[in-house]
Amino acid sequence: MTKHSFFGELYVLKIGGSVLTDKATERIARTSTLKRISEEIAIAQPRNLILIHGAGSFGHPQAKMYLVSREIKDALITHETVKKLNMMMVSALTDRGLKAIPLHPLSAVVSKGGEIEYKLKDQIELALKQGIIPVLHGDIILDARGGFSILSGDQLVVYAAKEFKASRVGVGTDVDGVLDDTGVVIRELTASDVAKRNITGSEHVDVTGGMKEKVDLLVQLAARYKIPAVLFNATKESNVVKFLRGDGLLGTVITGRLRRREKVKNTDTIQ
Ligand SMILES: Nc1ncnc2c1ncn2[C@@H]1O[C@H](COP(=O)(O)OP(=O)(O)O)[C@@H](O)[C@H]1O
Ligand SMILES: [Mg+2]
Repeated sequence: MTKHSFFGELYVLKIGGSVLTDKATERIARTSTLKRISEEIAIAQPRNLILIHGAGSFGHPQAKMYLVSREIKDALITHETVKKLNMMMVSALTDRGLKAIPLHPLSAVVSKGGEIEYKLKDQIELALKQGIIPVLHGDIILDARGGFSILSGDQLVVYAAKEFKASRVGVGTDVDGVLDDTGVVIRELTASDVAKRNITGSEHVDVTGGMKEKVDLLVQLAARYKIPAVLFNATKESNVVKFLRGDGLLGTVITGRLRRREKVKNTDTIQ
């Protein structure tokens, strides 16, 4: 598919589990936030939107159990729990009059020797062509090496943005952007900046690497595919509308501008 298959812009928006759930308490969803975000999407009315969400406390603690036990029952608990959050998101969107469908990575994505194979393109494409918002989420996926591996919502952002040549990519989380050592939002980050910054994981259970992994993935997306992303605070009202409308300065923009002689990891794998 080319960029021109769709009429108008195509947006990829990820809402973190830190926004939709209380990450400190297992299986607590923020229902008012699910509603508000759906309302903001309805207000902005983006023509082509791929929505991705994280698992928060509907997946990270459960996945952590699986990573210790390696038992299929814990993998299935992870999948079933995050599916509940996904259904809450989809229902909140449909309650607001939007057309939305769930897409579960376990049924369409596999890991082979560390490479991730996504068989989601047709489903996403057909949904978009019918004005439906596909709603994807972090999940467990089958791994050719045995058992399951964890696929993060942040990895799905990179996949969707490059596969569909997104015109705008937003990653909503629970902080105002990537913060420097003094707690101030860094307005623009490039690959070379990241190496010098002290970016760590998450203060909550986050089996997918928290802020560090998020930024690393977005830097790769920007540097290799020339698709910048904005990382913003989606717990604050109106920021989703602002992102979708392209209004104002939001959070941290992660760009692919490279300084001379800088090299970006030459790998397609986003694990
Ligand atoms: N330099 C940094 N700037 C901003 N947040 C950071 C930084 N280093 C670590 N973090 C942590 O990353 C968290 C966001 O990542 P994460 O919990 O994975 O969010 P999400 O659930 O939205 O994916 C923040 O709540 C914060 O605790
Ligand atoms: Mg995370």
